[in-house]
Amino acid sequence: MLEKSAYRPFGLEPIETASRDEIAALQLKRLQWTLGHAYENVPAYRAKFDATGVHPRDCKRLEDLARFPFTTKHDLRDNYPFGMFAVPQDKIVRVHASSGTTGKPTVVGYTQRDIDVWADVVARSIRASGGRPGMKVHVAYGYGLFTGGLGAHYGAEKLGCTVIPVSGGMTERQVQLITDFAPEIIMVTPSYMLAILDEFRAKGIDPRKSSLQVGIFGAEPWTNAMRAEIEDAVDMDAVDIYGLSEVMGPGVANECVETKDGLHVWEDHFYPEVIDPQSGTVLPDGERGELCFTSLTKEGMPVIRYRTRDLTRLLPGTARSMRRMEKVTGRSDDMMIVRGVNVFPTQIEEVLLDIEPLSAHYQIVLTREARLDEMEIIVEARPDHASDEARAASAAQLARIVKERIGVNARCNVTVPGAVERSLGKAKRVVDKRPRE
Ligand code: DLL
Repeated sequence: MLEKSAYRPFGLEPIETASRDEIAALQLKRLQWTLGHAYENVPAYRAKFDATGVHPRDCKRLEDLARFPFTTKHDLRDNYPFGMFAVPQDKIVRVHASSGTTGKPTVVGYTQRDIDVWADVVARSIRASGGRPGMKVHVAYGYGLFTGGLGAHYGAEKLGCTVIPVSGGMTERQVQLITDFAPEIIMVTPSYMLAILDEFRAKGIDPRKSSLQVGIFGAEPWTNAMRAEIEDAVDMDAVDIYGLSEVMGPGVANECVETKDGLHVWEDHFYPEVIDPQSGTVLPDGERGELCFTSLTKEGMPVIRYRTRDLTRLLPGTARSMRRMEKVTGRSDDMMIVRGVNVFPTQIEEVLLDIEPLSAHYQIVLTREARLDEMEIIVEARPDHASDEARAASAAQLARIVKERIGVNARCNVTVPGAVERSLGKAKRVVDKRPRE
């Protein structure tokens, strides 16, 4: 755990404590610039604005943004690879891409100024997490086209930390380097953190005795139950970092370690809206829906009302003046509809981490038998609860609680430790074997 003094905010930028009016004034100015920049320089935006009958000069108040069309992953795919860029190619200093499960990847581009802003927001995120200049940061997010590794890296350097750029994979070496280099901070997906913890135990090293004080976890949904699990296993503070490549990468929003009450959106660079995913109507703060972002300062690839598919709600600021987004419970594409009941993997995670003998390693398999959807939860027992009888008893308990709390019948298979595939980055929580319609 961090020293309690690290819970006191440190080195805040003036905008982090600015009044709402100041934030809104800055946002409007930047939004107007962004709409003009996109319209003037990206034919795809110009065509969409024209087709909707809106022009950048129609944006006189922040609420006017609702009149502008949404952008989706399809727009990026249709303009693959560089068609959404708003500056000449020689001004683009970096590209990243997200693989996506089908089809072409979505490609994003950054100018030097974008890279600098990105480093600033990640530095701000690490600072909000309790990181301070001089600390060592072990980066186990993947380096490469994925934004996790390099995004974390530049931000940690900007804050004045010592970066240990390990990337994902080679779990034994991760443990070795944590033990030898004694980093205070680790940045990694929560699911890969679990694999690292297993390796600690396999080596007979107690992770609670490690140097780690803070984990900055993101790139996939994870629950407060998982937070408690990791904080207890490592004796560390675990905070949530959010972002997506289309909008920037990690560092769009981050939790503050002193409150751990949702993620402050860095609203001076990213303007959030929550919409009804069906109708597209903007919902008032506090209501749950799909999160959309408009970039406010991006030069290389501005995004206008980009639909993230992530489900959350906006809440007023607490530790900072900027609004918070509630921990993302899931993506609309992760939602499983099992015999008519909507279920997210995070709901299953919450239930199984409530059951003492069960570990946090799980996967959900969906099949269809005789036209009916079947859900199987495969979860590992903790090592001291792995006898045949203990596993059968936990499976029965899990099935009962899933039925009670979520309302679905699940086949529960509690396995011996080590049976569920480990992720090196984002975990694959759902295996959908149902025939495509
Ligand atoms: O995952 C960027 C990132 C890297 C964020 C490292 C945090 C840490 P993409 O690969 O484009 O970018 O995937 C973005 O991942 O729309 C969410 O569905 C999910 N996601 C990211 N962070 C969180 C989080 C990176 N903290 C997609 N909680 C997003 C839940 C998250 N889901």
